Amino acid sequence: MADLAIVNCAQVVTLSGPARARTGAEMRELGIVRNGALLVRDGRIAKVGTRAEIERAASTDTEMVDAGGRIVLPGFVDAHTHPVFAGNRADEFDQRAEGATYAEIAARGGGIRSTVRQTRAASEADLLAAARRYRAWFLRGGTTTIEAKSGYGLTLDDELKILRAIRSLGAEGGLRVSPTFLGAHEVPDEYRGRRADYVRLVIDEMLPAVWREGLAESCDVFCEPSVFPVAQSREILEAACALGFRLRLHADQFSADEGSLLAAELGADTADHLEATTQCGWTALARAGVQPVLLPASAYCLGSGRYPAARQMIERGLAVTLATDFNPGSSPTASMPLVLSLAVTQMKMTCAEAITAATINGAYSLRRGNSVGSLDAGKLADFAIHDFADYRELAYFFGRETAWAVYIGGVRQTW
Ligand code: NIG
Ligand code: FE
Repeated sequence: MADLAIVNCAQVVTLSGPARARTGAEMRELGIVRNGALLVRDGRIAKVGTRAEIERAASTDTEMVDAGGRIVLPGFVDAHTHPVFAGNRADEFDQRAEGATYAEIAARGGGIRSTVRQTRAASEADLLAAARRYRAWFLRGGTTTIEAKSGYGLTLDDELKILRAIRSLGAEGGLRVSPTFLGAHEVPDEYRGRRADYVRLVIDEMLPAVWREGLAESCDVFCEPSVFPVAQSREILEAACALGFRLRLHADQFSADEGSLLAAELGADTADHLEATTQCGWTALARAGVQPVLLPASAYCLGSGRYPAARQMIERGLAVTLATDFNPGSSPTASMPLVLSLAVTQMKMTCAEAITAATINGAYSLRRGNSVGSLDAGKLADFAIHDFADYRELAYFFGRETAWAVYIGGVRQTW
């Protein structure tokens, strides 16, 4: 593969810095090289510098790409998505407009259980075909790595089917994928009133099978009093941890602090959502070094008006991360640029903090900080050229996808 040089970039936003997730004032340091350029060799970043430096380092057969005065950023690392499901829930979206709440719709058999019914009826090939379509949406927004959860099967075979579709999506190479098992996403119809039996199925059959096949790196639970209360969430996560899974949790989406306290107690990699978390929860997360993954697009789409307290979390020294939560119910968007806009307007993060949260902090939350999330020599050449001249415009001009070109491992992606 010939070397590749990207030249004539108004800003190369490197995110260079300490080799760990960024906290506090570090979240405002983007390591910008103005009028910069980038050299890629063997799928990795070889050098970032001025145009003159990169042209000197290039050889006669280096492929030169003129970025036309645009900006270059590391690909977004979307650390929380549910991209494999059948059908969608536009009907519930309309019902919410007429006053029904997410919880009411779930209680009458809609919500996650409605997507479960559709997903069970779909084949692995159907699910993969749908996920390929969503992959194009992620790429268009400048995302190059996603975390991808199962959780719409809720039988052993259907969870394995989803995780195999996730594995195929990653193996095809158009997007890097970090798989998470979320068998405890909801209690399925056939276990209504028998939640403890379903927890046994997750622990005794699903977790060992998923681990044996190497189909997931992490285990997640929807920890919520009305879904999986804290005692059962703990039981599942401890069993997962004993097998070797890393832990992530849906925590405090609707009720305060139990989920974040459990994430801290178990030393999870992340606690995600946190719309209802109070000082008690974010203090515990800070002490335990758990990364918050904030999902403002789901608060937006549910119309709750309740966004997580990002400012207080940053002030406490938490390595805040942003993700889409892409799913057919609470957050049908794959757009990290939209998430940046919501982070700035609704959670009062600065543009620089939001970009840090969407790149390097996402990478560290998935234990991939040494290979992606910043443009440092030696890292994988996963980056996007956006059609702007200043990084703040990514959050400021909202409502359009702006990636002009996206590269993964130095290969230009098409969609
Ligand atoms: O992260 N809260 C639980 N899971 C998803 C929603 C899934 C769905 O509604 O289908 C979330 O918001
Ligand atoms: Fe989620």
